[in-house]
Amino acid sequence: MPTPLFLETTDSTNTVARELALAGAPHGAAVLARQQTAGRGRWGRNWLSPGGAGLYGTIIVRPNLAVEDYAKISLTTGLAVSLALEEICRIQPQLKWPNDIYINGRKCGGILVESSSFQGPAEHYFALIGIGLNVNGDTDSLPPELQKTATTLFLETRQSFDISHLFTAIRQRVLHLLTQLTAEGCTAIFDQWQERDMLDGQWFHWLTSAGVQVYGLGMGVDKNSGAYTICDAEGKYHQAISGDMNLSFSERE
Ligand code: BTN
Repeated sequence: MPTPLFLETTDSTNTVARELALAGAPHGAAVLARQQTAGRGRWGRNWLSPGGAGLYGTIIVRPNLAVEDYAKISLTTGLAVSLALEEICRIQPQLKWPNDIYINGRKCGGILVESSSFQGPAEHYFALIGIGLNVNGDTDSLPPELQKTATTLFLETRQSFDISHLFTAIRQRVLHLLTQLTAEGCTAIFDQWQERDMLDGQWFHWLTSAGVQVYGLGMGVDKNSGAYTICDAEGKYHQAISGDMNLSFSERE
């Protein structure tokens, strides 16, 4: 694996990684920052990235996948992060579709996959896998509005972790699972993902990217496509390929 580029401070490791990828950085190249000043989350949200408290890293990948299969990289990465945390931190994370990492019902990390344009020769295509994890911070490292719903590895284990060691472990697993994805397809990976599915058997709101709300029961991930299956109160099945899932504990059955 190429040595990652370590940065003390940057705006967003995904932004730096895009420049490196456009300049020809190879599959597996990576950027890790101690702090980000403009960390990005999904849906244009900010990702607060205080120095030393978290892991803020991006892996550049050039997988041998059809363009329509790039969407599978998110779930594959979620599984890779979970496997690394299980081994190194001795915890059992849960995965919230499509790409949130939870521990004991609180969000501990997220994944933001961005891609190149899919025009021109396929050798130039790439994906940027941005990983953010709350690692060594105490409660006060989390913004007040997130202190009840988010957590850190330190709060869950009372241990501190070496962030670059954790990133290496995650990167190894991401690259290994991507090799498996391209060689064997997604079924075995999504089977393992399903064992960690936080929404399975739970009632929640799915907000579609078109802004429509569907309230339904989580039925798991489709093993071929990675779409999430939801059964609404009328018994109608929906397949989510995008959008946001919000568990609503007050309405849970
Ligand atoms: C989310 O849950 O919304 C995804 C958060 C992803 C954050 C990471 S931190 C490293 C990389 N650089 C960014 O700007 N974002 C991702």
